[in-house]
Amino acid sequence: MSTTITWLGHGAFLIETAGKTVIIDPFFTGNPAATLTADEVSPDALIISHGHGDHVGDAVEIAKRTGCLVIANFEITEWLTKQGVENVHAQHVGGSHKHDFGTVKLTIAHHGSALPDGSNGGSPCGIFLRTEDGTIYHACDTGLFYDMKLIGEEGIDVAILPIGDNFTMGPEDALRAVKLIEPKRVIPDHFGTWPLIDQDVAAWAKSVRSETLTEPVILEPGQSIEL
Ligand code: NI
Ligand code: MN
Repeated sequence: MSTTITWLGHGAFLIETAGKTVIIDPFFTGNPAATLTADEVSPDALIISHGHGDHVGDAVEIAKRTGCLVIANFEITEWLTKQGVENVHAQHVGGSHKHDFGTVKLTIAHHGSALPDGSNGGSPCGIFLRTEDGTIYHACDTGLFYDMKLIGEEGIDVAILPIGDNFTMGPEDALRAVKLIEPKRVIPDHFGTWPLIDQDVAAWAKSVRSETLTEPVILEPGQSIEL
């Protein structure tokens, strides 16, 4: 089997695994980095990390149109249900569940989670995904935290870390995160979408290469790697 990870711009990733398509944080409308539009995707599942508009994105529209499963924390699934989304699965921080595409565990993340209409979106989360081909940890929007070391103990094949600074870790803390997690490969995200979060990603990759054993993988939005 094979698992493919495609960056859709900003924090959005498309993961094809076990014959299923999963999109994390489907932010297309209003996303200057998006390579797809919301009506072009038909995932089997969505996973939403937290309530902010640049992560919930087009989830309601996609879920209503396709009937796909939406996985998120309890507060966000309650909110989605109120928006008319019918197929939801609530999890919460530290909890794992085996879905038909792989096992999802929600992790801590240090951030906010207010929903677009101001509703309480519960705790923001990172996403640990165990597929039949390996493991992915998408830290989502977060500052650096030392417990990333515990997440790394799961054995991470691909980590996805924000480097944009201002709202999340910047390049220096993301480098420290790589040292705590020790993934085989790391993909930077949540940068370059707007000038406020522009970063020199090549310089960051160089520092990862020189200071860690992790291989940095710089994707352009729309590009993929095999797990
Ligand atoms: Ni956010
Ligand atoms: Mn964000």
